Amino acid sequence: MECCGIDVFGASRVIESPLDAVVSPLRRTRYSTVGRTLLGTRLSRVVLNRCLQTDFALWRASTIGQGRRRARAKPHVVLRSALPGHRKVGGIVAANRLFSLNGESALVTGGGTGIGAAISRLFLHMGAQVTIASRRESKLEAFRNSVPQHASFLHAVPGDVAVDSERIVATAVAAMGSISILVNNASTSVGKPMRDMTGAEWQTVYTTNLEAAFRLCQSALPSLEANRGCILHISSASAVAGDYDDAAYVSSKSGLEGFSRHLAVELAADGVRSNVIRPGLINTEAFADYPDEFFESQIPLIPLGRLGSPEDVAYAALYLCSREAAFVTGAVLTVDGGETRI
Ligand SMILES: NC(=O)c1ccc[n+]([C@@H]2O[C@H](COP(=O)([O-])OP(=O)(O)OC[C@H]3O[C@@H](n4cnc5c(N)ncnc54)[C@H](OP(=O)(O)O)[C@@H]3O)[C@@H](O)[C@H]2O)c1
Repeated sequence: MECCGIDVFGASRVIESPLDAVVSPLRRTRYSTVGRTLLGTRLSRVVLNRCLQTDFALWRASTIGQGRRRARAKPHVVLRSALPGHRKVGGIVAANRLFSLNGESALVTGGGTGIGAAISRLFLHMGAQVTIASRRESKLEAFRNSVPQHASFLHAVPGDVAVDSERIVATAVAAMGSISILVNNASTSVGKPMRDMTGAEWQTVYTTNLEAAFRLCQSALPSLEANRGCILHISSASAVAGDYDDAAYVSSKSGLEGFSRHLAVELAADGVRSNVIRPGLINTEAFADYPDEFFESQIPLIPLGRLGSPEDVAYAALYLCSREAAFVTGAVLTVDGGETRI
């Protein structure tokens, strides 16, 4: 925030007003000191808001009798337009430009199959460059072949997020120039009840589902900060509902949601958002080996009466990663047909 011409928070809001004309050099110094001392704290916002209110009152008083035109010119807040992709607050975006990802660069882990593939396909369609990363090159290749019209905007990095996160991020940055959207989608499970799970299995799930998210976010942070970008984590309804098997999966997804809440607060001052999608039962290749009876037994438990599709999740991802969600951070968007509501 720029307070009376002084950059206090280094954030995206800029005050444009004639306040400079009525604020004494002494007050300017005080704002600067207050801003630096209380940088990033909730208290600093309260103090600075008070300063602004006081100055606004001063400015209003100084304009009395100086003509209607000047008195009407209220201070207003705009987004720093020099930043790519930012639009004016309160501006109306043409309907055909809503949710556009033109100019964005997205890294989607597990982007070659299922939900990750649906997100990647939609992001490409909406104008983003996309890098997909996962272990099986055959799946990456199959996805590439399914979107020939976007070949020049699509990059693929074979790799295991559990061991290769830093390299995956570096390769994505090299391919796209930067990362403005990170989608932590890759995950694994062992599908065993807790009593049968080995420590090594627990660790594998945790490393893939949670520690990799930390490493990916940390590696991508400089790029995300430079772009005032966003992070999207794909959690699971089982993070809140529990499950009959795989304590490690359920625990790691709960941890992922906590991690996202933390990032939302820690990274807000840098303009980086962090949100979660919590899918319910989505028909992807993860369930390829399940018998039909499984799905038939599940559908009555879903109020909307059907399984979710990968596209149901992708549309939610598009919203959360778009500039239209610029004021949304620390949120969890549940996409489960109402399953966890009953
Ligand atoms: N489908 C559902 O009902 C459902 C419900 C709740 C939450 N989710 C979540 O949605 C996300 C996507 O799942 P999905 O249903 O689309 O399943 P999926 O098709 O099996 O997708 C998982 C993807 O992650 C990749 N992956 C797994 N381990 C990896 C690793 N160590 N390194 C790199 N990539 C790895 C897989 O590719 P490789 O095997 O080639 O590496 C695959 O592309 C997951 O986070 C899952 O927990 C799904």
